[in-house]
Amino acid sequence: MRICFIASEIAPLAKTGGLADVAGALPRYLHGRGHDVRLFMPLYSSIGLGALNADHVPNVQDVELRLGPHRYSFSLLQAHLPGSTTPVLLVHCPAAFDRPTIYTNGPDEHLRFLVLQRAVLESCQRMGFAPQIVHCNDWHTGLVPLMLKTLYAWDRLFEQSRTIMSIHNIGYQGVFGAGTAYDVGGEIRGLLSPSDFGAGQINWLREGLRHAHRVSTVSPTYAREIQTPIGGHGLDGTLRERGDEVVGILNGVDYADWNPALDRYLKHRYTRDDLSGKAAGKRAFLDWMNLSLPEKTPMFGIVSRLTPQKGFDLLFDTLPEVLAGRDCCLVGVGNGEARYERFFEGLQQRFPDRVVFHRGYSEEIAHLIEAAADIFLMPSMYEPCGLNQMYSLKYGTVPIVRKTGGLADSVQMWDGDSRQGTGIVFNDFDVPAMRWALQTALDLFKDRDAWTQMMRNGMAQDFSWDAQGREYENLYESLIR
Ligand code: ADP
Ligand code: GLC
Repeated sequence: MRICFIASEIAPLAKTGGLADVAGALPRYLHGRGHDVRLFMPLYSSIGLGALNADHVPNVQDVELRLGPHRYSFSLLQAHLPGSTTPVLLVHCPAAFDRPTIYTNGPDEHLRFLVLQRAVLESCQRMGFAPQIVHCNDWHTGLVPLMLKTLYAWDRLFEQSRTIMSIHNIGYQGVFGAGTAYDVGGEIRGLLSPSDFGAGQINWLREGLRHAHRVSTVSPTYAREIQTPIGGHGLDGTLRERGDEVVGILNGVDYADWNPALDRYLKHRYTRDDLSGKAAGKRAFLDWMNLSLPEKTPMFGIVSRLTPQKGFDLLFDTLPEVLAGRDCCLVGVGNGEARYERFFEGLQQRFPDRVVFHRGYSEEIAHLIEAAADIFLMPSMYEPCGLNQMYSLKYGTVPIVRKTGGLADSVQMWDGDSRQGTGIVFNDFDVPAMRWALQTALDLFKDRDAWTQMMRNGMAQDFSWDAQGREYENLYESLIR
């Protein structure tokens, strides 16, 4: 199949969260299966071109884009995703992408991602690439289906193209003033959501959901949740109108990257059959973090963006309580909203011998925490899929999750009788439920047999892209037929 895949971030070139992991791994899988995948992303200035060995794509150099009164010029570069043979096409437009961060929330944010979307379609034309599937991811690519129906409708190159809009997080929709319709150009006005336009805005994600041939999201449970008023963040009605054209496909895990038997960051590697490396690694990690605690001290781990989505408000009272009352420690890495950063930094000040919090983003610390911790904390308010709970399962780090979205689809509550289950799962987004989960985990941790069984159950789970990628192929095929 000929597939055009577009994302604003793709690991390992640029990443703020799980979207990048998925946008790196799924196209790699598809490329491995022999499909002609053209993977597009912006060339941010943070991407070091030196090591990439990028080539200019002939015919796609110094292309002029007119976005209303604005003029941009872009060129296309081709490289490979580091560590793979999968080609990636980089949209080089310094005026749009030469910024200190991937997202800016600045006044020209819509123009930056209009450049990306237009540049992708212009590039397909100039490369003579007729995609059968155009796979869009999140709001940054939400107008592509509409552009194909309007600005590019005349071009027979796209006649057979079928579009997919994938929702990785419905909490981010790309909402801009109605005046920006002129920057998009063409005859799009008549096709925009009348209620949004009447309210003086354009919602890019909604337009993607309305105009794509299919809508997908990253877990079956989330596919149901976003069709309800609570989960839909205002888009549930639009989704319900699409009926069974909304599908949920659980994300996969790239086990070349996230596997305790192979992990390049670990000195002490381990497997499900021989867990001794996990204990040795925990010891080394405690020493590195200057925590002089016995190795048997239960360790909570956190690796996360710090936003309300992730549910850490539930920890404001419960975590200090547990740290004060019980033998345990906490190691976390994360960045985001100040109130969460302040909370975790405050915990470290209050319990300096038992809490280490690294404010920031660090792949290395993320891997070390996944391996060293005993219990992984992911009490999300909502979670489209979530990757860290799946990584945790593979590392024998028992996750505490709330029963929502992809967390509900990937972690099963431990059952002492059948000795089945992979984690601690709680239902309600409230403090008593959180407290119950923390206490239950610490109680269970003392039962070494049960705990080890739960670790091993988790380590045996398989969320590899071989299974999940196949579901996307089926989806693509069903659209082309
Ligand atoms: P989301 O995409 O909502 O942030 P996911 O669980 O799907 O949540 O994916 C998060 C990804 O980002 C994981 O690969 C995780 O390891 C990584 N990550 C998040 N925050 C950090 C951080 N502070 N340092 C290193 N990696 C992080
Ligand atoms: C989003 C979601 C997360 C999901 C990721 C990749 O950022 O918050 O749950 O795993 O996208 O799909």
